[in-house]
Amino acid sequence: MKRLEGKVAVVTGSAQGIGAGIARVLASHGATLCLADIQESVEQTAEAIRKDGGKAFAYRIDVTKSADVEATFAKMLKDHGRVDILVNNAGIYPRRKLVEMDEEFLHRLFEINVFGMFRCAKAVLPGMMERRYGKIVNMSSVTGPMVGTPAGGQTAYGSSKAAVIGFTKALALETAQYMINVNCILPGYVYSPSAFGIRGSTSGADVEAAMREFGRKIPMCRQGSPEDVGNLVRFLASDEASYLTGSEIVIDGGNILQEEFLGPYSPK
Ligand SMILES: NC(=O)c1ccc[n+]([C@@H]2O[C@H](COP(=O)([O-])OP(=O)(O)OC[C@H]3O[C@@H](n4cnc5c(N)ncnc54)[C@H](O)[C@@H]3O)[C@@H](O)[C@H]2O)c1
Repeated sequence: MKRLEGKVAVVTGSAQGIGAGIARVLASHGATLCLADIQESVEQTAEAIRKDGGKAFAYRIDVTKSADVEATFAKMLKDHGRVDILVNNAGIYPRRKLVEMDEEFLHRLFEINVFGMFRCAKAVLPGMMERRYGKIVNMSSVTGPMVGTPAGGQTAYGSSKAAVIGFTKALALETAQYMINVNCILPGYVYSPSAFGIRGSTSGADVEAAMREFGRKIPMCRQGSPEDVGNLVRFLASDEASYLTGSEIVIDGGNILQEEFLGPYSPK
């Protein structure tokens, strides 16, 4: 059953990785997809969805620039009439220890991971409030409430993803009487090209082996796929989730449940 037929969805950061997976899943459930990304390759990602029979349109956007966000969302609204679903997924996760961090690093990370989300939500809310309908899904992370690695370097990222949770709850309360649902997702380790370097080898065939090996640290014996996250977004963006707002949902194959590590794990 195509639960999102007739809905218009925007996914930021959807040229690759988790955002592309979310876009593929939403399109397969009938939504018209606006893929928004700073990279030119967003066009190829949209083209691949169209080849699979989905409705997908590519938009170049830099979420750090207010004028760019306003102009791009104005164009989407002109092209498709409205936005029903916004997925604030664009984000970066470079690691740097606090004592080695300059202001530029910190500002850029917050400009993308936090302020970008404010800008995109602000662009779609007036229409959603007027129509008394809207679904906003924000990408947080288990790194925020938790810390991904004892190796350090996650003060900026962790605090940006904790900010996503605070934003989600405050906006959910601010918009509940307009029947707008605002929720956030906290993924654990998800297979994505940007994560290759920090979770193992980046070279050739070694990548797959390194990613598989990394997955054995997780109780469910693998990293998540972008489609795993996409399926959760699909639910949150549908009317089945119409009484769910202000929630933070962990999707991590059981990884943050463990106090004692008994891995590496393998399927039984
Ligand atoms: N991969 C994981 O394990 C994981 C875990 C938890 C949370 N997350 C979060 O999920 C989201 C996606 O992560 P990913 O692993 O797919 O990363 P990714 O690097 O593969 O994808 C991020 C996308 O955001 C885009 N982007 C970056 N800066 C932008 C800007 N200024 N304007 C518009 N687009 C911009 C990039 O071009 C890229 O396509 C991020 O918010 C990340 O923090 C990822």
